[in-house]
Amino acid sequence: RTVYVNGEYLPETEATVSIFDRGFLMADGVYEVTSVLGGKLIDFGGHLARLERSLNELDMKKPAAFDDLLDIHRELVRANDITDGLVYLQVTRGSDGDRDFVFPNAETTEPTLVLFTQSKPGLAQNPVALKGIKVISIEDIRWGRRDIKTVQLLYPSMGKMMAKKAGCDDAWMVEDGYVTEGTSNNAYIVKGNRIITRQLSNDILHGITRAAVLRFAREAQMEVEERAFTIDEAKAADEAFVTSASAFVMPVVEIDGVALGDGTPGRVAARLREIYLEESL
Ligand code: PDD
Repeated sequence: RTVYVNGEYLPETEATVSIFDRGFLMADGVYEVTSVLGGKLIDFGGHLARLERSLNELDMKKPAAFDDLLDIHRELVRANDITDGLVYLQVTRGSDGDRDFVFPNAETTEPTLVLFTQSKPGLAQNPVALKGIKVISIEDIRWGRRDIKTVQLLYPSMGKMMAKKAGCDDAWMVEDGYVTEGTSNNAYIVKGNRIITRQLSNDILHGITRAAVLRFAREAQMEVEERAFTIDEAKAADEAFVTSASAFVMPVVEIDGVALGDGTPGRVAARLREIYLEESL
């Protein structure tokens, strides 16, 4: 695989980053994941806009111009012959060569920019979407700025491991009884014909897929309500689903062992997945 590190395209085995990089020592960094379908980047503009916002919120320097980042994405997709898959981009604050809680001077310290691809043949035809996923609920104990896409992914990883241990696929995080989001996706329930998903705030990541799916839903005259819902309300819902750049729209068929509807993917989720993929391809 060819990867990109700080201005260079290299074989993955030759790419290196300093052990003092604050991304490594302090999770001081942000990232984006853009999906590739049929060789085409999906929603690149949205991902770049969010990256810029994440960097601004953390007072980090932008590592390259929009057009350069687009070129790097395209070059990696080409070099690695990606038809379906992902491009992962990470920016960390870099380092001035030692460990220190104080941020290094942004004028003299360059951020570290890393990109790589992951090939996922048949991503759009993922058979899991036909049977749906099972989730457990866990308490949301992450920090309060989940709107910033930081690389602090320890708790979400632990949540996903807890789900696997319980024989499930993923976890929904719950704060004060209300679902915030999935470990790496936004969460939705469907009641009757109404799609309910938490409103945007610092409590959740502002999903790029979420924005697209809600736009498509409204265009298709589906009813959308942006508000917090409780985990109990979710268990009593007709259907549920999650969205993310890598999962698109993925039906949820079980929450904490409680089957939703007849325990198979719901009609609304299936339709939204279809629309999303049609519009993206
Ligand atoms: N995760 N919420 C969280 C906590 C996420 O990590 C993600 C994305 C989303 C969905 O955002 P988007 O639709 O822009 O992908 C919501 C990526 C895919 C990841 O960590 O791999």
